[in-house]
Amino acid sequence: MSEEKQQVSRRQFLNYTLTGVGGFMAAGMLVPMLRMAVDPVLQESAAGDFANVSLAVEDITNEPQRVDWKIKQVDGWYESEVTKSAWVYKDDNGDIIALSPICKHLGCVVSWEGSEDYPNQFYCPCHDGRYYKSGVNVPNTPPTAALDVYEQKVENGMLYLGNAQPQGEA
Ligand code: FES
Repeated sequence: MSEEKQQVSRRQFLNYTLTGVGGFMAAGMLVPMLRMAVDPVLQESAAGDFANVSLAVEDITNEPQRVDWKIKQVDGWYESEVTKSAWVYKDDNGDIIALSPICKHLGCVVSWEGSEDYPNQFYCPCHDGRYYKSGVNVPNTPPTAALDVYEQKVENGMLYLGNAQPQGEA
């Protein structure tokens, strides 16, 4: 009985080696390309970051004042600067309240005492939407939910605002 020789020819050896090295190099090139293509989609949004809205806490009164600030927004591969706004005041307990000015009916912008007919309320001119000072919607007006309220923190006496979150309904 003859023993079968399992020899690898020089040609086969080169084939295996070059295929292995070639595959390794291709993977090395593909991984960074894939990362570049997919990474912006997977990256966490910076929306959760807090922004300094250039308002000192000592300058906040119990009268709502509007503050505007800019944030850098990354949407996939598109980077843009977005202006955000809030109505900020201190409530009776001295707590800072920062309300979104976006009407919960169809998204117009509300103003504090925007109508002479409704003092001490936020007013939306689009369809006569109204909100109490707390941001809660006035029943029987078009908005069906309270104004969103911003996450907030205070650092070195300055107000920082984060995301606007929904609050309770009337
Ligand atoms: S959008 Fe504000 S009341 Fe309609």
